[in-house]
Amino acid sequence: MKGGLVCVMILTALVVRGYAVEYIAAVVEFQPAISPSPSRTIEDNVHEYVAFIESAKREAANIIVFPEYGLTGMVLSQLENYSIEIPDVGSGPTFNDINLHRLANAAREHGMFVVANVLEKSRGAANKTIFYNTNFVLNLEGKIVAKYRKINLFAEPLVTPGPRDQNNTFDTPFGKFGMFICFDILFYNPSMSTIASGQVKNIIYPTAWFSSLPYYHSLNVQHGYAVVNKVNLLAANLNNVTAGNGGSGIYGANGQVLNYYISGLGSSRLLVAKVGSNDPQAFRSYGLKGFSGFDNKKELESYITPGSFSATGYTVRKIELSNGVELKEKVCQKGFCCEFSITANTSNIPEVYQLVVYDGQGKVIPAVDMLPIRVCALMVCDSRGESCASRDILSSTTFQNISIRAEVKNGKEHFYRPVTLRTQLTPLEPLMYEESTSKDMRTINIRTSNNTDIVLFGIYGRSNGSTIVFSSIFLVIMAAVRTLF
Ligand SMILES: *[C@@H]1O[C@H](CO)[C@@H](O)[C@H](O)[C@H]1NC(C)=O
Ligand SMILES: *[C@@H]1O[C@H](CO)[C@@H](O)[C@H](O)[C@H]1NC(C)=O
Ligand SMILES: *[C@@H]1O[C@H](CO)[C@@H](O)[C@H](O)[C@H]1NC(C)=O
Ligand SMILES: *[C@@H]1O[C@H](CO)[C@@H](O)[C@H](O)[C@H]1NC(C)=O
Ligand SMILES: *[C@@H]1O[C@H](CO)[C@@H](O)[C@H](O)[C@H]1NC(C)=O
Ligand SMILES: *[C@@H]1O[C@H](CO)[C@@H](O)[C@H](O)[C@H]1NC(C)=O
Ligand SMILES: *[C@@H]1O[C@H](CO)[C@@H](O)[C@H](O)[C@H]1NC(C)=O
Ligand SMILES: *[C@@H]1O[C@H](CO)[C@@H](O)[C@H](O)[C@H]1NC(C)=O
Repeated sequence: MKGGLVCVMILTALVVRGYAVEYIAAVVEFQPAISPSPSRTIEDNVHEYVAFIESAKREAANIIVFPEYGLTGMVLSQLENYSIEIPDVGSGPTFNDINLHRLANAAREHGMFVVANVLEKSRGAANKTIFYNTNFVLNLEGKIVAKYRKINLFAEPLVTPGPRDQNNTFDTPFGKFGMFICFDILFYNPSMSTIASGQVKNIIYPTAWFSSLPYYHSLNVQHGYAVVNKVNLLAANLNNVTAGNGGSGIYGANGQVLNYYISGLGSSRLLVAKVGSNDPQAFRSYGLKGFSGFDNKKELESYITPGSFSATGYTVRKIELSNGVELKEKVCQKGFCCEFSITANTSNIPEVYQLVVYDGQGKVIPAVDMLPIRVCALMVCDSRGESCASRDILSSTTFQNISIRAEVKNGKEHFYRPVTLRTQLTPLEPLMYEESTSKDMRTINIRTSNNTDIVLFGIYGRSNGSTIVFSSIFLVIMAAVRTLF
């Protein structure tokens, strides 16, 4: 009876305009509490989650998303103590596990879909205890309606990869959703396969992303995914700025950044936005808008972004910026060609911009590159043209228009995304992406206009190959690198 009433209220709250169904999304950038024992840690963080669900309710949210490792922090050992059993889809609304029970109660009481990520304790062959990195979804009645186990693990040696053919979708009164986790976004399965049928228009994305530069800054990876695939993306990141974890956002299927947060201050933050509206003003006026522009540049200094660009293997063309630019240039590496078309107002600028093109094996560092990749990009470099795509290089150039076009054989061996970066680490807008195919060829075009502070603007192709298996040597290096931050 009560569930039915809540359902009617939610349905009447939804506005259907044209084909778009509006809903209100909340994502939480979350800095977990680390308490004296594993069980207290989970309990204390669940307590915080419930408070965020209450806050989101005051903003009339229909769905709330919490980040990867949000209940425990990035734990890599003692998984037995940090894990929770998650019953099958269909279970609930009562649960033996007190933490799960509390979250289900909050979902029910506030009539909100709640998505959380946990270390899931499960049983493998011969009844052996195994662990998954799992998202679960609680519906308005507090029942589990979907589960997803992370397929592409990133240096999580004690966790078992999820099955490659699992059902990671669920239905809501405001549309069909799919979900995946963190590193998954860089792999065809599940980031592209989930949306391949065209049915899924909304993606839930809990993450604990380490922003390594130049290609893998959290907000730019998130925004690029939404732009290319024309889906709404709800991205909730773990906050640990000294480790480079941070940067959450809500992105519209039309390419707009509806809300985002990036900060060098270690703190949690609730982001809310109206999603699916046709009215551009509705995006801007709703909810708690994230930081923007230069305001947070100084504050961002403590947000660590490891990684740097190395030109080894790249074809590089320096461009002449001294007195206005109107450039059209085609740069190729082997058979991979990119056409750059750039206009800028410049005079006496100290920085140098370069065009870079690459088609080959990704580098081992950063490790996420290890599959074959393709890049065509515009990059800022220091005045000697040596250090490139670094967020420390000040740029005074205003680009009226940048357009980059790549024509590739119409195979399925790569999928393409924009790679963009601004000095203040905010998403680059406007960002237009078009892909068209003819009989044998596929054309990819990205564009922006009237932009400053551009560190990087380009197309990034990534092999659709399967997951990277990290060697034990790499895991040791990663553990050492993490202790350095
Ligand atoms: C944050 O990162 C630091 C350095 O990697 C690590 O020692 C600490 O445990 C992390 N905190 C959480 C809550 O994960
Ligand atoms: C971890 O779990 C084991 C077995 O379940 C238990 O014996 C141990 O006391 C727990 N450790 C902590 C720190 O809670
Ligand atoms: C598997 O192990 C658990 C925990 O030790 C035990 O409760 C359960 O009965 C076992 N199941 C089977 C099928 O052996
Ligand atoms: C996937 O799970 C959802 C939610 O339980 C269900 O509605 C849908 O039918 C399932 N799809 C398939 C292909 O099993
Ligand atoms: C750039 O130059 C063009 C042509 O000289 C001019 O119309 C335009 O207003 C300038 N834009 C900026 C941002 O300075
Ligand atoms: C990935 O690329 C290979 C080689 O072109 C192709 O055979 C395969 O179908 C592609 N896989 C997917 C999932 O698109
Ligand atoms: C370009 O951007 C600046 C600063 O964001 C803005 O003031 C100006 O109106 C924009 N110009 C055009 C032509 O869009
Ligand atoms: C070039 O940029 C200006 C804004 O600076 C924009 O009004 C115009 O539409 C752009 N032209 C193209 C071809 O994208």
